[in-house]
Amino acid sequence: MSAAGELVTVVNHPLVDNSLVALRDVNTGTDTFRRHARLLTLILAFHVLEDLPTREVSVRTPLEDMRGHVIDRNVIFVPVLRAGLAMLDAMSDFVPGSKVGFVGLERDETTAIAHSYYQKLPAQLAEAEAIILDPMLATGGSALATVELLKQNRAGSIRLACVLAAPEGIGLLNERHPDVRIFTAVVDRGLNDRKFILPGLGDFGDRYFGTT
Ligand code: PRP
Ligand code: URA
Repeated sequence: MSAAGELVTVVNHPLVDNSLVALRDVNTGTDTFRRHARLLTLILAFHVLEDLPTREVSVRTPLEDMRGHVIDRNVIFVPVLRAGLAMLDAMSDFVPGSKVGFVGLERDETTAIAHSYYQKLPAQLAEAEAIILDPMLATGGSALATVELLKQNRAGSIRLACVLAAPEGIGLLNERHPDVRIFTAVVDRGLNDRKFILPGLGDFGDRYFGTT
């Protein structure tokens, strides 16, 4: 793992590289795309959830009693619809009892400005670690809108987990909300004139859900 900046954690690992090539490849079909999206999320989860507090518990093995540690923090995952759903199962599998809030945002195809069409958030945001799930951080407009919604609803601690991040999106989020830590598999070169990430992987939601 290496840090690209104080607030961005870039996960460097050969397994990440391997899955990124599969996701980027224009010839990768829906099933393979989904499999690698899940694998990458599992790896990201190790880093996003790395410093969660734990508490000691007792556990009985088939042979004897022992002490172990379990996560001792309320966690709320917030997938940004639709593409964020691709990360939800893999990430939440690690955290029994986690809650899920939904934020529906869609970028206008010509302006690339995200508009909100749905939101449903759990009540306990103030006492929880809120983890936004969105595989693509491009202009940062969607992430910014989600962070601001969570803060309006009294979220205390917020992290963002993504797969591909553009410098533009990282810059916007760092400037407006420097308290939000970003975790990504890679930082790409930049955006094209349609605000797609370059070299990127195209439209994540379309490729994951087979809607191309
Ligand atoms: C994609 C992606 C992010 C957003 C990133 O969603 O999943 O939410 O774009 O772009 P931004 O940083 O410029 O806001 P999209 O609007 O394509 O919707 P979808 O997930 O329903 O496909
Ligand atoms: N959303 C995507 O799915 N891909 C991009 O390149 C930018 C935003």
